[in-house]
Amino acid sequence: MKIVVIGASGVLGSRVADLLAERGNEVVRANRAAGVDAYTGEGLAQAMSGADVVVDCLSVETLSAKKAVDFFRTTAHNIGRAATAAAVGHVVCVSIVNADDPAVNAKFGYYQGKAAQEAAYRDVVDPATLTVLASVQWFELAEQMMGRMAVGPVAIVPKMRCRPAAAEDVAKVVADTATTAPAPVGAGGLRKIEVAGPAEMDLLGVAKAVAAQRGSPRWILGASVGGPAIRGGGLVPAYPDVVTPTTLEQWLARHADAPAGSAR
Ligand SMILES: NC(=O)c1ccc[n+]([C@@H]2O[C@H](COP(=O)([O-])OP(=O)(O)OC[C@H]3O[C@@H](n4cnc5c(N)ncnc54)[C@H](OP(=O)(O)O)[C@@H]3O)[C@@H](O)[C@H]2O)c1
Repeated sequence: MKIVVIGASGVLGSRVADLLAERGNEVVRANRAAGVDAYTGEGLAQAMSGADVVVDCLSVETLSAKKAVDFFRTTAHNIGRAATAAAVGHVVCVSIVNADDPAVNAKFGYYQGKAAQEAAYRDVVDPATLTVLASVQWFELAEQMMGRMAVGPVAIVPKMRCRPAAAEDVAKVVADTATTAPAPVGAGGLRKIEVAGPAEMDLLGVAKAVAAQRGSPRWILGASVGGPAIRGGGLVPAYPDVVTPTTLEQWLARHADAPAGSAR
């Protein structure tokens, strides 16, 4: 199959692209450095020419609802329209479990962006060819947060009740989904696959475990951002479709040598 991975240099996208290539697919690795800008639309039509599947693994680094909504809505419209014009058979949008729930995203701008992304895909892509793959938070998110919000020896991580998964495991589910024909949906229905990790915990606990293993950063502070639903379990799926195998302990053991703050 010819599969376009948009955001192929990212934490998830790089793993998805590698897996799909290992499985013998023709993979187009799309990101700005490769000449594809999903926000302006530059390079999308060429990347999608003759493609069977498009996987959206894009992200933007912002907490601003305005910026997140603008980025995810615009890129989803551009990708969805280009995929439709190129008669791509399956569009897989990677999203976040419950990010489209107003109780969860009310005070979390990035999640409002993800809700706008899902809605934008539903607007422009035939539901028969669209799958939203909603993942829980990844262990790597704690690393990303510690890398982004650090001052000297102190890092700040949001308090989030979650059921985290290893990005590597989620990438496998994304690759499986991309290479499986989409199951039929009812009229106007939405195909959504929810992916969760093996156990519920707080992202702050993940960050502390990573920092303790690596000896850096020295102090981790929990921030009460994003509203009570984020801290109180609103991000935890009730009945996930897929439960990934890697536990925090196994993931830590596998990533023992990674530098602090590096999720790749
Ligand atoms: N982190 C988590 O715990 C988590 C959990 C569930 C779901 N997700 C979702 O998983 C997805 C991937 O997240 P991630 O952390 O892997 O992202 P990431 O590491 O930040 O990578 C983002 C990717 O998007 C590309 N990109 C950004 N702007 C672009 C543009 N205008 N045109 C083309 N490419 C562009 C980047 O490449 P260039 O900068 O080179 O263009 C990069 O390849 C996101 O949708 C996120 O919401 C994340």
